[in-house]
Amino acid sequence: MATTRGGIITGWGIGVPDNVVTNEDLSARMDTNDAWIRERTGIRERRIGGTTSQWAIEAGLAALERAGRRPDEIDAVILATTTPDQIIPATSATVQDGIGVPGGAFDVNAACSGFVYALTTAHGLLAIGAERLLVIGSETLSRVTDWDDRSVAILVGDGAGAVVLEAVDGPGQLLSWNLGADGSLRHLLKCDHGGFLYMNGKEIFRKAVRVVIDSAQKAITDAGLTADDIDLMVPHQANLRIISAACQRLGIPEEKAVVVIDRYGNTSSASIPLALADALDAGRLNKGDKVLLTGFGGGMTWASAVLHWGG
Ligand code: ACO
Repeated sequence: MATTRGGIITGWGIGVPDNVVTNEDLSARMDTNDAWIRERTGIRERRIGGTTSQWAIEAGLAALERAGRRPDEIDAVILATTTPDQIIPATSATVQDGIGVPGGAFDVNAACSGFVYALTTAHGLLAIGAERLLVIGSETLSRVTDWDDRSVAILVGDGAGAVVLEAVDGPGQLLSWNLGADGSLRHLLKCDHGGFLYMNGKEIFRKAVRVVIDSAQKAITDAGLTADDIDLMVPHQANLRIISAACQRLGIPEEKAVVVIDRYGNTSSASIPLALADALDAGRLNKGDKVLLTGFGGGMTWASAVLHWGG
């Protein structure tokens, strides 16, 4: 990638509700059961509650602390979310104020691909002179969920993950990126004003596997790598079966994929940074590792990026 100024992630953090909702809790309310949910999705429990700005602020502050940076050292907050606290203003305004960042703030909505879209956009800002950015994925899907609709209610979770991205001379960590969309498929996953989340799960499943493989493969090739070179894969956490199918077809062993869907469910834009933070906290990333981030979501959208950790 031709750039003279890149970025490196220097801090990360998460913010999630304390309230744990298990599959058993949901079974008491609707016609479903723990075995079905685990087998079909890989989810055991999810965190529910709060607001998108609340978890974004918590995750953002944790990432700043980890990076050893003060809020006033950040040039902009980029918040990926598909469940804003309100339509206007952007939720990033609440987050900017809550954290005390003096710089700019804007939201990115590319549904579950949002965090990779935001991270890619952030690298563009670094290339034209920004020094430090806070990139956050935060969601409260529970607020747009019909809790009597088992086709959606069993899947969703709330929370946020954040990273601090700092400019460096040279190419930085980002080796490649791939963003895509097909708006003719927007009817598959949607939420109208005042409505609830609707999805055609089967159709999304089918399409998701295809687009994720294609996007991830392009990003790996553009990075000048092959699947064998990928040390860690951080996929969007929509369904464990989608993650398994993607690993299989990409030729990446499943042990290399980070899985947090069992604990958090599908947290849309927050799922990739939540999984990345989990892998970092568990010491799964070493200097020099090649990391594949890849996801898909409503729109439909898809996005992948390959990072050279510590590069
Ligand atoms: N509990 C128990 N049984 C259920 C449930 C449930 N929650 N939901 C459906 N069933 C039943 C169905 O009625 C059906 O029964 P039948 O065979 O007697 O007719 C059977 O289970 C199978 O249902 P399917 O809908 O075929 O189940 P499937 O294996 O497709 O799994 C799922 C459904 C989990 C939704 C899957 O399709 C999926 O994960 N799709 C992708 C979802 C996704 O990635 N969304 C994108 C992101 S979401 C976002 O952006 C917020």
